[in-house]
Amino acid sequence: MTSLFEEITPAPATDVPVRRVTITVNGQPRTLDVEPRLLLAHLLRQGLGLTGTHTGCDTTNCGACTVLYDGAPIKSCTMLAVQADGHEVQTVEGLGTASELDPVQEGFTHEHGLQCGFCTPGMMMASRALLNANPDPTEEEVRFALSGNLCRCTGYQNIVKAVLWAAQRERDAQPPEEAGAEAATDDVPVEQEA
Ligand code: FES
Ligand code: FES
Repeated sequence: MTSLFEEITPAPATDVPVRRVTITVNGQPRTLDVEPRLLLAHLLRQGLGLTGTHTGCDTTNCGACTVLYDGAPIKSCTMLAVQADGHEVQTVEGLGTASELDPVQEGFTHEHGLQCGFCTPGMMMASRALLNANPDPTEEEVRFALSGNLCRCTGYQNIVKAVLWAAQRERDAQPPEEAGAEAATDDVPVEQEA
């Protein structure tokens, strides 16, 4: 259990009220005492040391703080930590491992989808959510899914390519029977004329 207060307060005040929460972060239940005003982004970064979640604006604009909340992409600078009590949060640290990258991470490497990298964790989490829901997105769908994430460096072109590359990679990795089943579902029966 960790007691967490604002980073700018060196010594926690004794009279600050806290609430105990349990949040499953990257698959691990974490029980913490948090101030009710603490943002989820700050809990992740300063409380749990998951600094892959970036904060660029703190005003819901840039998307650098995007994480998955019960599988949906949310901006963690806009949610209170106490609101995540009893829920699952996935950060970029939970996306892959050092020996096995997530296809989205591979895609960003393969297609040079980053420059300074500040926006990249948020971009990746938003991309992961898109591919979980839609394994075969169009370029337009990728651009729409990433429209809440700002990048100051790349011009977006390679980021979009990275997501499309990851989508293709995941479809190629599908076991043949699953791919076959999908193809069969796509076969719309043709009505025979009498
Ligand atoms: S830091 Fe959350 S949207 Fe910019
Ligand atoms: S790579 Fe620098 S902000 Fe996107």
